[in-house]
Amino acid sequence: MASAQELGVTCYVIGGFVRDYLLGWGVPKDIDVVAVGSGIALAKKVASKLEGRPQVSVFKNFGTAMVKHGTLELEFVGARKESYDRNSRKPVVEDGTLDDDQKRRDFTINALALSLNEGDFGMLLDPFDGVGDLERKLIRTPLQPDITYSDDPLRMLRAIRFATQLNFTIHLESLQAITENKARIKIVSPERIVDELHKILSSKKPAVGFALLHKTELLPHILPELVALEGIEEIEGQRHKDNFWHTLEVVDNISEMTEDVWLRWAALLHDIGKAPTKKFHKKIGWTFHGHEFVGSKMVYKLFRRLHMPLNEKMKFVQKMVLMSSRPIVLSEDFVTDSAVRRLVFDAGEHVEDLMTLCEADITTKNPRKQRKYKSNFKLVREKIIEVEERDRVRNFQPPISGEEIMKTFNLEPSKEIGIIKEAIKEAILEGDIPNEYGPARDFMLKKGKAMGLRAT
Ligand code: CTP
Repeated sequence: MASAQELGVTCYVIGGFVRDYLLGWGVPKDIDVVAVGSGIALAKKVASKLEGRPQVSVFKNFGTAMVKHGTLELEFVGARKESYDRNSRKPVVEDGTLDDDQKRRDFTINALALSLNEGDFGMLLDPFDGVGDLERKLIRTPLQPDITYSDDPLRMLRAIRFATQLNFTIHLESLQAITENKARIKIVSPERIVDELHKILSSKKPAVGFALLHKTELLPHILPELVALEGIEEIEGQRHKDNFWHTLEVVDNISEMTEDVWLRWAALLHDIGKAPTKKFHKKIGWTFHGHEFVGSKMVYKLFRRLHMPLNEKMKFVQKMVLMSSRPIVLSEDFVTDSAVRRLVFDAGEHVEDLMTLCEADITTKNPRKQRKYKSNFKLVREKIIEVEERDRVRNFQPPISGEEIMKTFNLEPSKEIGIIKEAIKEAILEGDIPNEYGPARDFMLKKGKAMGLRAT
């Protein structure tokens, strides 16, 4: 305040901080301050008065400056009028009044400003009834929605993201304007799009956001793989379920079970292989053979297209998609020890996540089936613990090394070693022998003999 006074400018806290403060929502990470005058000069002045004199990061092109103070980021910007270049998200900036600045913001609830000035300190400036919209739980633009969204198409995703996070409704005119401007999403960078998708997926009920993306017809521009799952086909009286709406149910289910956004991504993508693998057979009806494998390959392409990390997070999602039917097959059938052991072996450290995904995948409305699947999954979980305690196959280390096999049978490196190693692993997974050195060595000797090898 004193800094602003010394510089002869007025300044206001604006945007997300004010919105969240009034909502009593979340812990503030950044505070946006708008100065009627130079935001950069104000940032420098404020930093010079803060303990430890923090550095000021200046973004001259944008007329903004940032000061880090403890865990808080203070963003300073000069009030501006703005119009946008139609082919990029770059604004053409001119100095303006507070009112100009509030008008160019995305939503009424993000245009609320609190005065930091002597005389009216703490006064709320709310020219577009943002407070009323907070009460009505409404996402509405300060200007005609067509202008706001066309100016910066990222706002279409922000509207949907805020509606999902805050459980707000998007004003009808906004929804229409988003639908009309949907194709302009192409000028938004994939990184920004993914940022919003992450936030939608991290919400309590992500399906709200995906249903809005579908309704506004943005989804085909962002995740066409999901749109391809929509619809129910019927041939000769045989129908399959609508895998798009099923997927959204699975995403909401899993969001009650885990905060892990990558596991939520796995739920979102677990059925994407079903569109390209769908077939109708006269005798057995609809099939989606190999959809898990095809889906896991599609995950890579989708991550690459959206500039998402092609690292272990992607591999995790791929693995979940690839294995997504395994526990289901178990739960439909009699649960054998060896099937569970193989599941733990293949899923490794992610076996619990896989079970969570599969439990979220139960969306049947038939109470009898629902009960049966749930109780079988409970049994699978119990067996996983039992098998794991006994056989420790989760991070399987062969009890007999290749070197020992070579020494025992006096072998040079050869394919026989691999055959014996594989046979030992199979015997353990089948439950023919326990995962212990002694029994594995006896098994190796027997196997070698059967292959015509002589132990030295
Ligand atoms: N803003 C805008 N248009 C955008 C992005 C931001 O008008 N495309 C304005 C809004 O007034 C917003 C403020 O800039 O409140 C700060 O933006 P940002 O920090 O991205 O979002 P917050 O509203 O603070 O919310 P969150 O941190 O949840 O993204």
